[in-house]
Amino acid sequence: MDKIVVLDFGSQYSHLICRRIREFSVYAELVPFDITVEELTKMNPKGIIFSGGPASVYNSGAPIPENKIFEMKLPILGICYGHQLIVNNYGGKVKRANKEYGSSLLTIDDDSDLLSGLGKSIRAWMSHGDEAEQIPKNFEVIGHTESAKAAAIVNMEKSIYGIQFHPEVVHTEQGTEILKNFVLKICKAKQEWTMKGFVEKTVKDISKIDGNVLCAVSGGIDSTVTALLIHRAIGERLKCIFVDNGLLRLNEEKEIGEMFTKNFKVNFIKIDAKKQFLTKLDGVSDPEKKRKIVGEEFVRIFTDFAEKNGPFRWLAQGTLYPDVIESGVSKGPASVIKTHHNVGGLPDWLKLQVLEPLRELYKDEVRKVAKILGVPQKLLMRHPFPGPGLAVRVIGEVTEKKLEIAKTASKIVEEELEKAKWYDKVWQAYAAVGEDKAVGVVGDERKYGNIVMVRVVDSVDAMTADWTRLPDGLLEKISNRITNEINDVTWVTYVISSKPPATIEPQ
Ligand code: XMP
Repeated sequence: MDKIVVLDFGSQYSHLICRRIREFSVYAELVPFDITVEELTKMNPKGIIFSGGPASVYNSGAPIPENKIFEMKLPILGICYGHQLIVNNYGGKVKRANKEYGSSLLTIDDDSDLLSGLGKSIRAWMSHGDEAEQIPKNFEVIGHTESAKAAAIVNMEKSIYGIQFHPEVVHTEQGTEILKNFVLKICKAKQEWTMKGFVEKTVKDISKIDGNVLCAVSGGIDSTVTALLIHRAIGERLKCIFVDNGLLRLNEEKEIGEMFTKNFKVNFIKIDAKKQFLTKLDGVSDPEKKRKIVGEEFVRIFTDFAEKNGPFRWLAQGTLYPDVIESGVSKGPASVIKTHHNVGGLPDWLKLQVLEPLRELYKDEVRKVAKILGVPQKLLMRHPFPGPGLAVRVIGEVTEKKLEIAKTASKIVEEELEKAKWYDKVWQAYAAVGEDKAVGVVGDERKYGNIVMVRVVDSVDAMTADWTRLPDGLLEKISNRITNEINDVTWVTYVISSKPPATIEPQ
């Protein structure tokens, strides 16, 4: 498959370059900037992109790629720091400039090639402290802004391009067109990256493996898609284990079981460990301790199951591409089947090899695969849910009563948001409960009951989040239902803290 390789020089936007390119069906992969030419040659890319980055090319210790990359005779596009690298490499001059952050008007001086089809000017997103003062010999300027005279340059003969702005961020008008010009017209990459093709190839690859596969499913989209892909490939040789820890959403354990057994007819084993988890959590109120207990108990149950029901050769995991990059194990071409053991706290003696069929995919791509595999729409649109489950949404000690309140109140929040067509518009919506109580009146009686906190947030990546401005009427309905339907609750509060300084989950 034709591909574009993006060398990562540390910009917060490096990821986005790959995503934008994949969105128009060309495979793009992010690799560390110090990848060797030998490794790059093995990847056989159609073109190379240098990402931006925080360093200055003239400082010692600045990240510099292997020099032979420039002799590979492949088209290169440098973005921001990548642009300055190209200027520096070919004998131009980069100097410290007035910092420029935000949108600038880019005037297009030559619209015949990289900047074709954009008109006379576009708004381009700048984020830089250095600029090209003098461009190298044999390069020409094809675009400028008021403050950056060489905002876009080219050496046509070598197919080497540099742009000071970021075409990958949405604030650059027609940024995708610029990337398309580079990838499709200049690199001549074919648009072969489709999710249907991915499913076919992955199923074919997995069908070649020997031995049984063990996959822990949580009901989340990543583990579900992982299991379904493997099931398509090897059928009964896949065993899915689902640990019911009692910390899930209301009735979720039933819904997940039905989906796997009735809809998909997967070899699915449910382990009812509610009591075990609650006993281990008994009397514990420290958030980190609770997380640790939930994690350790899961590993114990999982290991015990693997030992008794094996032998298994493979452990399937729903690792996604951003996790692979974050953990720093992305080294050149990503392979579907990676072999190492001792993952996620599992003991070495299990000797499980890891199968990660989604390790090349972004979340939105996983959703597309899920659709192809027939995953129900409800699961596709479901909000994220924390691994330790309600243990982090019940503040303080986890008791059956508090769990019941959190489950029922969260169900009410979800139902009302769905009815009012708000559910799909927000990132997460749930109710948490803590130790605090408040007085209320029911009929003529005073009642001392729990306080429930409703949390609804908007976010794009969970790194930052803002509280959602829900209509008063909707909040009123949620509040009324919670106090009417849950006997122990007297007060409902709405959380109006953003992230930062707060986090999305209370613990
Ligand atoms: P915070 O609370 O850190 O959460 O703002 C950010 C996002 O991560 C989810 N979250 C978790 N997901 N295991 C997970 O798989 C966890 O331990 C965990 N803790 C928080 C949270 O729901 C939000 O989407």
